[in-house]
Amino acid sequence: MTTGSTGEGASPPPFLADPYREFTAREGIPQYEDFGFDLLSLELTPWPRLEAKGAFAHCLGRGDFADMYVCEIAPGGRTSPQRHLYEAVVYVLAGRGSTTIDAPDGPRTFEWHEGSLFALPLNGRYQHFNGSGSKPARFAAVTDLPLVMNVFRSESFIFDNDTTFPERFGDPRYNQGDGTFIPRQPGRHMWETNFVPDLRTLELQQWDKRGGGSRNIMFALADGTMHAHISEMPVGTYKKGHRHGADFHVFAVSGRGYSLYWYEGESELRRFDWRHGTVFTPTDMLFHQHFNTSAEPARYLAIAFGGLRYPTLGDKRKTFSGMDVSLKDGGRQIEYEDEDPRIRRMFEDELRRSGVPSHMSEVFAPAR
Ligand SMILES: [Fe+2]
Repeated sequence: MTTGSTGEGASPPPFLADPYREFTAREGIPQYEDFGFDLLSLELTPWPRLEAKGAFAHCLGRGDFADMYVCEIAPGGRTSPQRHLYEAVVYVLAGRGSTTIDAPDGPRTFEWHEGSLFALPLNGRYQHFNGSGSKPARFAAVTDLPLVMNVFRSESFIFDNDTTFPERFGDPRYNQGDGTFIPRQPGRHMWETNFVPDLRTLELQQWDKRGGGSRNIMFALADGTMHAHISEMPVGTYKKGHRHGADFHVFAVSGRGYSLYWYEGESELRRFDWRHGTVFTPTDMLFHQHFNTSAEPARYLAIAFGGLRYPTLGDKRKTFSGMDVSLKDGGRQIEYEDEDPRIRRMFEDELRRSGVPSHMSEVFAPAR
């Protein structure tokens, strides 16, 4: 029997290797890891690759396929041009600016600001510009780089690859704030686009089965594998609890509120407070539930790997079909009548403290 030699100076053969994390360590920017973050206050350092400031923000529930980084462009500044063989969905946290993408039919430039959402088409060259001479512009990007890096383990393949994917760019109006509405059924209606100028004002569709008065839209962005959707809770209401696999990065967009989460078999209800700038990811099959405590409708954005058009993962397929079906019927949702009574009481107490009227009795009256 021969034994693999690890002669002097040779590196040992890989064992439980994580090429993605080796890559992020080499990027030379902070790597934060937590259940959730306030992305507006996260400290960033110069990132040579982008010629801007950045940090990786690894949420504990990010799963195996998705990651997130935060980037800040100095006033009057720009990033260096980028191109890569992974997808990225960008949510603008602060400031304003523009992005130019080299599409097969010529360059496309669109202007964004706080609350904008856009996708970077696979391997399309792009560059971001800060539109202000006095204020920084900060955004978060959720990507599928962990999947791509761990499979190919080659920076040149990922960042210096001439393969083009013209079908990913879509209609030029998809970069002008326009899109195509694709009706399916409540909760699964889709908006196909590459750029949403303002998630706070985008028209949503009714989805009562996820909670009284709930509205949402699912996105098909740059014909990609990455998923995004936005949901809204009216004043004085909350969504029904549910669970699903990892990697849904949940960004608060407008309003304020909190989410409860609990592990199966545990009685402790844990809490994450949110407002614009915060993000968290429920870990794999963690029960969680979102509550609006503000005097305005509250919206949140979720970005994940595997969407409604291309679920890719078996778990995403199950989630998108069972997300508004009761656990009792094989789905993934806890109906109001089945929830822990502490949940409703805690919400009503919270609203009383903030002087916001509850509208829960209009959407669900518990049996006395
Ligand atoms: Fe969820």
